[in-house]
Amino acid sequence: MTAKIEAQTSPAQPLSIIILAAGKGTRMRSALPKVLHEVGRRAMLHHVLALAQELEARECVVVIGPGMEEVAASARAYHPRVIIALQERQLGTGDAVRAALPVLGATDADILILFGDTPLISAKAIAQLRHARAGSAAIGVIGFRPADPGRYGRLVTRPENGALVLERIVEFAEASAEEREIGLCNSGIFLIEAGRAAELLSQITNANSKGEYYLTDIVEIALRQGLRTIAVEADVHEVLGVNSRADLAAAEAAFQARARVAALESGATLIAPDTVYFSADTSIESDVHIGPHVVFGPGVRVASGARIEAFSHIEGARIDAGARIGPFARLRSGAQIGAGVHVGNFVEVKNSALRAGAKANHLAYIGDADIGANANIGAGTITCNYDGFGKFETKIGAGAFIGSNSSLVAPVEIGAGAYVGSGSVITQSVPNDALAIGRGKQEIREGWAARFRERKMRETARKKGKE
Ligand code: UD1
Ligand code: MG
Repeated sequence: MTAKIEAQTSPAQPLSIIILAAGKGTRMRSALPKVLHEVGRRAMLHHVLALAQELEARECVVVIGPGMEEVAASARAYHPRVIIALQERQLGTGDAVRAALPVLGATDADILILFGDTPLISAKAIAQLRHARAGSAAIGVIGFRPADPGRYGRLVTRPENGALVLERIVEFAEASAEEREIGLCNSGIFLIEAGRAAELLSQITNANSKGEYYLTDIVEIALRQGLRTIAVEADVHEVLGVNSRADLAAAEAAFQARARVAALESGATLIAPDTVYFSADTSIESDVHIGPHVVFGPGVRVASGARIEAFSHIEGARIDAGARIGPFARLRSGAQIGAGVHVGNFVEVKNSALRAGAKANHLAYIGDADIGANANIGAGTITCNYDGFGKFETKIGAGAFIGSNSSLVAPVEIGAGAYVGSGSVITQSVPNDALAIGRGKQEIREGWAARFRERKMRETARKKGKE
């Protein structure tokens, strides 16, 4: 959701952000790099970049591996000022941070490390971390308590004057049975005091069971130097780390739960919230009514007072005030639904504007069309916009009436106030206020059916007599 999350404090201390995105993510079993997998129809990496922007980071470095141009391009597409750093070999999270430090140079900014596979962390949680670290510790780490701590790293802590002093982070692979009992886990999100990162990271080794350079080791290194390190706790749903498809599904569920609450809080009615699916950029104004089983893909804005009825699938659409969509409607990219428009069951709209008050109540395909205000599109109307090679436009003037089951073969224009007779195939433009009929002429043959029946019955009787 676009609902702004207010940062609690905005300390004057500047911030540089490093996003780790170079991991292979082999457990995803995917051709797509892990951080480009989507939560709420937005790449996980873009969630984290959105946070970096919200935090007004001075610099934002994304660490990628060789051959991950797709990730670099995706990061730059989100924000052209993102700096890309290359981690030559995926030797662990500590090594990845080391790959980013040279591009930051000697900086007077605190360094915030975010993981590209941990997309749901809020600005508020980061503000709490900054607040807790400021002036009191060299390193702050966000911890959380999942129902099942699984293979997360564990935080070894002790309480001290209301704060949680962090003594060590132990990776699951290294943890003793006793340490695995610890419920407080490492989210991977670190805040390091300005000027300290390079020195701390220079001391990590790969002397562990995985042979990796663990970022988590800097906690013990700092402690040995007499520095203080602290942990703060965040909501478990914000720090789910995605290493597998099951984790991705769990992150999606957490995202949807949050988006549903945000929609309700912004004044929308959701009859069955658990059945409605949002995208990260869905924008819903107050007094929008959303029925059960509605799916919002990316790029949807719904204005106040609109009704989205059950089982509608909507993406890339702008829905203006008081419009009625569905049940069972499909709006695709470029659908612009004007104020008070009705789009009914089994109507598909793509790259088309329906101006205020227009109606397409049943069974229609409207593609590459401009439908004038208060026009009526009858059941079964098809804009034939594609000839197998190109796409063509249909224009329908204000107040026009398209009779049921008509095919409008684009490019074609129907004038304002014109009528199209039911069942027409319209290949030529229709002037304003004219009637166009393009169908086979009806013929009446009096008594034909009775004569036909009589003949058939006689033939049947003859056949039976011969048997
Ligand atoms: C890591 C933490 C673990 C924590 C968990 C939270 C370490 C050593 N472990 O484990 O304590 O509980 O996250 O989700 O830090 N990456 C690189 N280069 C690498 C390796 C990883 O850029 O060489 C990136 C990955 O793309 C990913 C992030 O760093 O975005 C975390 O790496 P991942 O392999 O997922 O670590 P976890 O095993 O989840
Ligand atoms: Mg991970």
